[in-house]
Amino acid sequence: MLKDKRIAILGSGTMGRAIAGGLLHSAKLKPGQLRATCRRKDAAELFARELGVQCVLDNAEAVTWAEVVILCLKPKDLTKVLEQLRDQGALSHKPLVISIVAGTSTGYIETVLASACPVVRAMPNTPCFIGKGMTVVAKGSRARATHIDLAREIFTPLGRFIELDEKHMDTVTGLSASGPAFMYVIIEALADGGVMRGLPRNVAIELAAQMTLGAAEMVLSTGRHPASLKDDVTTPAGCTIAGILALEDGRIRSVLARGVETASKVAAELGK
Ligand SMILES: NC(=O)c1ccc[n+]([C@@H]2O[C@H](COP(=O)([O-])OP(=O)(O)OC[C@H]3O[C@@H](n4cnc5c(N)ncnc54)[C@H](OP(=O)(O)O)[C@@H]3O)[C@@H](O)[C@H]2O)c1
Repeated sequence: MLKDKRIAILGSGTMGRAIAGGLLHSAKLKPGQLRATCRRKDAAELFARELGVQCVLDNAEAVTWAEVVILCLKPKDLTKVLEQLRDQGALSHKPLVISIVAGTSTGYIETVLASACPVVRAMPNTPCFIGKGMTVVAKGSRARATHIDLAREIFTPLGRFIELDEKHMDTVTGLSASGPAFMYVIIEALADGGVMRGLPRNVAIELAAQMTLGAAEMVLSTGRHPASLKDDVTTPAGCTIAGILALEDGRIRSVLARGVETASKVAAELGK
């Protein structure tokens, strides 16, 4: 299905770039099948130069051309763009609209557009750029299984993909969309520990990052519970359990869980 589709990406910032870049790297579609938009001419030229994808300042032009429209705008910019598209009749051909906008429901988008377009909500993350992303999607009221199938074709080359009920999307935002930033802080902090013990900074970062990658891959590829995998590493009276007790003294579990809870609550407010 994807090889013939024309996709417009409205908003070519961090996520528009991650999605376009990930799709192009995967070679699942050609640059000519993508068209992006933004507000600033210099940003459009840079995007076009770096990704080889046409980037225009006219959202309606890109939407009229496309069969799939991916909304990669900040919540504060969304309503105005949707109203303009509606008033210009740019959606009369009923493209599939996929919104990655945090805190904004499919119901809201359907209401503002006042058109019969199917709407799917998606929450990807920045590792989509290198094909290691996590994307969760939810159906709007007019979206059907075929629309989810098309969304799956778009996001699967960018990493893992699952469908959930829309009520979970703010939590997904706080966990897997904000999560890369949490992990960068953790990787940096782990590396600091190595630096404190004398490792060169670049070596400490490489060790921390590759270890994080390996541990995540163990959870996903074995399907084992993280607690059981942790037990494999913790020899009785050994160094690892000593390190874990130090982490527990710092309330690492509740701090991380509260981080996700807080990010999810803020995400829920972003579209209001
Ligand atoms: N960043 C993440 O990790 C992440 C992850 C998942 C979901 N999201 C969601 O993705 C959305 C985009 O986030 P982002 O981090 O990519 O934001 P961003 O880097 O600020 O990009 C926003 C883009 O929207 C463009 N834009 C603003 N108004 C526009 C208009 N009227 N017409 C066309 N383009 C317009 C901006 O263009 P100019 O630069 O020219 O103004 C910019 O290219 C947000 O809703 C966010 O919640 C983000």
